[in-house]
Amino acid sequence: MPNRNRRILVTGAVGQVGTELVPALRDRFGAEHVIAAGHRTQPSEGFRNAGPYTTVDATDMDGLKALLQEHDIGVIYHLATLLSADGEKDPERAWRVNLGSLKNVLDLGVELEMDQIFWPSSIAVFGPTTPRVDTPQRTILEPTTMYGVTKVAGENLCNYYFTRYGLDVRGLRYPGLISHETFPGGGTSDYSVEIFVAAIERGHYTCFVNADTALPLMYMDDAIRATVGVMAADAARISVRTSYNVSALSFTAGELAAEVSGRVDGFTCDFEPDFRQAIADSWPDSMDDSVARRDWGWKPEYDLPTLVDAMLNGVREKLGGAWPRV
Ligand code: SER
Repeated sequence: MPNRNRRILVTGAVGQVGTELVPALRDRFGAEHVIAAGHRTQPSEGFRNAGPYTTVDATDMDGLKALLQEHDIGVIYHLATLLSADGEKDPERAWRVNLGSLKNVLDLGVELEMDQIFWPSSIAVFGPTTPRVDTPQRTILEPTTMYGVTKVAGENLCNYYFTRYGLDVRGLRYPGLISHETFPGGGTSDYSVEIFVAAIERGHYTCFVNADTALPLMYMDDAIRATVGVMAADAARISVRTSYNVSALSFTAGELAAEVSGRVDGFTCDFEPDFRQAIADSWPDSMDDSVARRDWGWKPEYDLPTLVDAMLNGVREKLGGAWPRV
């Protein structure tokens, strides 16, 4: 468990996960105890004022070290990353940002004797040679995207720092995450968020994967509970130091569209796959997360109907504010 006196840093704090993880950590540990660090993306006024906020480029070792020392950080949630679709547009940058920053975090974790590090992995570690259904915890990892390559390498780096230096690093292979607080940027599973905004704004969505594309997906509340859960678990229970499979739902884009049309009058959806179809096709349909369930009691709460209701309510509320247009 983290030393209560040292603070928590969240990098990538203005991103899709960070904007919801930061308030959850602040509820648990106190607002002043959690330092939110963005980089290029501007936070909303409310987010900036809710507790300590700063900026950091985690690929800059010196800048990161100074920040960790200045705020007496003992735990890092290192969320800053480029996602799969953006990674294919600029693979060199994806490598530099995703792995360069992780290496800095791990090295400083050892040097400054961090209590804990969290690093998110992804279903993108899997590839076409991986079993597609109920993908096991330990299986073939031959991804086709640079994002996936960085996640496989990063998982192994985390495991190495645990076995070599005893650094308490923990990770989750997030499914595609569905949320209404912040729009995801540059991912392949983004259609599963865009569809809700498009349905409410225009009553129509053109989906960039075909109707029978299935992916492991998860509502953000479950993802936050999983993140807090794995970090709160007794270290003796953590048997996986690469990254845990965590699963919630698996449904096709067509099934999602049907759920939305059942709730938004007149909603229509058509399907025009682009380059992201090949990425989605290389990922599993569903994951076996029995190791996470056994080790630290993981269990999702949302099913497809409750997720769709929560998303439609959340997006409707958000549209009155600064929700970005798709
Ligand atoms: N949501 C991510 C993406 O689509 C997967 O980790 O890139």
